[in-house]
Amino acid sequence: MTTPTIELKPSASPLAAAEREAILANPGFGRHFTDHMVTIKWTEGRGWHDGQLVPYAPIPIDPATNVLHYAQEIFEGLKAYRQPDGSVALFRPDQNAKRFQRSAKRLAMPELPVETFIEACDVLVRQDIDWVPAHGGEESLYLRPFMIGTEVGLGVKPANEYLFIVIASPAGAYFPGGVKPVSIWVSEDRVRAVPGGMGDAKTGGNYAASLLAQAEAAAKGCDQVCYLDAVEHQWVEELGGMNLYFVYGDRIVTPTLTGSILEGVTRDSLLAVARDLGYESEEGRVSVEQWQRDTENGTLTEVFACGTAAVITPVGTVKRASAEWKQSGGETGEVTLRLRQALLDLQRGTAEDTHGWMHKI
Ligand code: COI
Repeated sequence: MTTPTIELKPSASPLAAAEREAILANPGFGRHFTDHMVTIKWTEGRGWHDGQLVPYAPIPIDPATNVLHYAQEIFEGLKAYRQPDGSVALFRPDQNAKRFQRSAKRLAMPELPVETFIEACDVLVRQDIDWVPAHGGEESLYLRPFMIGTEVGLGVKPANEYLFIVIASPAGAYFPGGVKPVSIWVSEDRVRAVPGGMGDAKTGGNYAASLLAQAEAAAKGCDQVCYLDAVEHQWVEELGGMNLYFVYGDRIVTPTLTGSILEGVTRDSLLAVARDLGYESEEGRVSVEQWQRDTENGTLTEVFACGTAAVITPVGTVKRASAEWKQSGGETGEVTLRLRQALLDLQRGTAEDTHGWMHKI
């Protein structure tokens, strides 16, 4: 694999500091973008080439481009955090880089070298460092690396050229209510992914597949949809864009990776963070029946969602076709809060990085 250098062609007119500060005061999620982006091309026979940091701008695209028709697209999400000394660090970018390679493989796309993925993120954050929100708050800089097939033509085959791009967006809480408990609709008929499919790849198609059930969840008054497995329609898999954890007293359980669940970096990190805090953590199967029964009998004490964008978000209400129940009395549970704080302390550099997860820019 070739590792291209990234040529710097910065903007002559970045956004004025006062306008940037106004955005950083209330960034929301995914609404504003920084001054630059990194682009790298891949062409069959030539490999990776033409790495550039350029002003953030629309990309011209031919109407017959592969991605618009056959959806060769993969993406990642990771965050840059302002540290107490004013420096900036990324959280486990190597994990995102490796998952990006696994997603690329699944969609018959070229694999970007891990070091190039990280270098592209570093270069962008270094250039747009003033867009990284201040230390200590809920805000961070969300990075969105992605890759699309750019060959022009309507033949159904892997494209012979690709474009990798990293953009960045200052981010506050993913859910408008902040860290307030969310409500979940358990969809017992629609599925997100099937065995042997591409549910464990981070590709736009999986998110497109989740939108109708997400709209149905919203119509039921819920914030998120929860998917069950596609074969027995009983084993909990994940939410539309985040993983789930079940808290049984001092033991936390997340659904085992079956091939149709996305292997979340936050999900993986929490297995270790929980152990650091003295909890037991494990992967296991949890059915929707068990979820309801164990809540009713009091053994299942808390449930929370996790992801890069969502961080850790408590679940307060659960609805399924035949029942509805409160989780932790509709409040944020104690274990959820402790894990959330421990993870954020690590990411913000106020706790010791005992796992070597933080990558200084
Ligand atoms: C993330 O948590 O980074 C995600 O990719 C979830 C969503 C915003 C698509």
